[in-house]
Amino acid sequence: MATSDSIIIGVLVTNRVINKLMKGDHSMRGYDRLVQLSKAAKVANVTLYFFSAKNVYFSKAVKGMIMDEQGVWEKKLFPLPDVLYDRLATRDTKSLSEQIRREFDRKGIKKINSISYFNKGEVYTNLLKNEKSNKYLPETKWFKNEKELITFLDRHSKVYLKAARGGRGRSVLCIESVESNGYQYKYFRDDRLFTGKALNFNELFTFIQKFFKDRPFIMQKGINLLKVDNSNIDFRAELQRNGEGKLGITGITARTGVKNSPITTHSSAYTLEQFLETVLYYPQEEIYLIKDQFETFLYDMYHALEEAYGPFGEIGIDFGLDTNGDIWFIEPNAKSAKVSLYKAYDKETYFKAFLNPIEYAKFLMKSVRNN
Ligand SMILES: Nc1ncnc2c1ncn2[C@@H]1O[C@H](COP(=O)(O)OP(=O)(O)O)[C@@H](O)[C@H]1O
Ligand SMILES: [Mg+2]
Repeated sequence: MATSDSIIIGVLVTNRVINKLMKGDHSMRGYDRLVQLSKAAKVANVTLYFFSAKNVYFSKAVKGMIMDEQGVWEKKLFPLPDVLYDRLATRDTKSLSEQIRREFDRKGIKKINSISYFNKGEVYTNLLKNEKSNKYLPETKWFKNEKELITFLDRHSKVYLKAARGGRGRSVLCIESVESNGYQYKYFRDDRLFTGKALNFNELFTFIQKFFKDRPFIMQKGINLLKVDNSNIDFRAELQRNGEGKLGITGITARTGVKNSPITTHSSAYTLEQFLETVLYYPQEEIYLIKDQFETFLYDMYHALEEAYGPFGEIGIDFGLDTNGDIWFIEPNAKSAKVSLYKAYDKETYFKAFLNPIEYAKFLMKSVRNN
């Protein structure tokens, strides 16, 4: 039964997820995350329900789905949550979900994360202003016109074009200049690597327009990432605040991409230790050194992001190591799916990644109630 300090967390998801749960269909991607979160809520002794924007009534009550002790889903009417855990990818500012987010903000409902998605171009502008973070940023510019793109391609032998609001490597186009003025481009679609050639800039630009349509995108210097057997390596760190509001690193994974792929999504993952020891064969002293550098970098980036956007309970940070051993920031994720953590780590660490934001939600409410 609810005790005086027990809290309610509402997890905002798509209508599709809610409909499937109602039908007892568990086939959606990420179903396991719903289960993990529900189990973590039990452990933390809080009420946690899932809802979509359509299930909020007159901003007074919410029809939500909750998992009981036996793992059975129940539909119930709940009060508005104390804390919102926004797991929705919707970016449309006119959407119902966005209205709900604004309504919850007006009501002063706490949030795990200050914002629910990062715009890659804005992130760059914000982090460039900060002394602690700017040294880790590969040169990045908004795409404005063809002339600037030509200059950018002349300056860097490898360039990444990325939609400002991407995800899962779907809106990433990697371009390399080849001799005799042509270009080679690569991208991933439907789990497959595609490669194309353009004989000149005009041909390339026609393809770029088809690729991004009218979506804004950035131009970014290609980082000369460390490779193993022709596979790019990059890293994903899960940083989270705990029940005391204290920031920690839940896990760092090394991701190896498909051979010759420009992205490391759809990859195998190792824990950082496994990777340094058993793939790179680094000696212990060097491992300590790298872990130390990674930690400094990660905490600096997290704090820089908080300075720009406000507090976060968790951020997944993508970053790379180049062939000179320098660290480069790739992007932050406000809604990490924790896929690499799942692939590389033990069950306890994975579970901790779900428990932390819930404990953090309790911490947020404690500070409210003590004031
Ligand atoms: N500037 C870059 N240099 C080298 N690799 C990059 C660069 N930007 C992105 N990548 C690769 O592409 C992947 C996806 O890019 P990312 O910016 O994380 O977008 P998404 O939102 O699709 O995850 C990264 O994990 C990394 O492997
Ligand atoms: Mg990414």
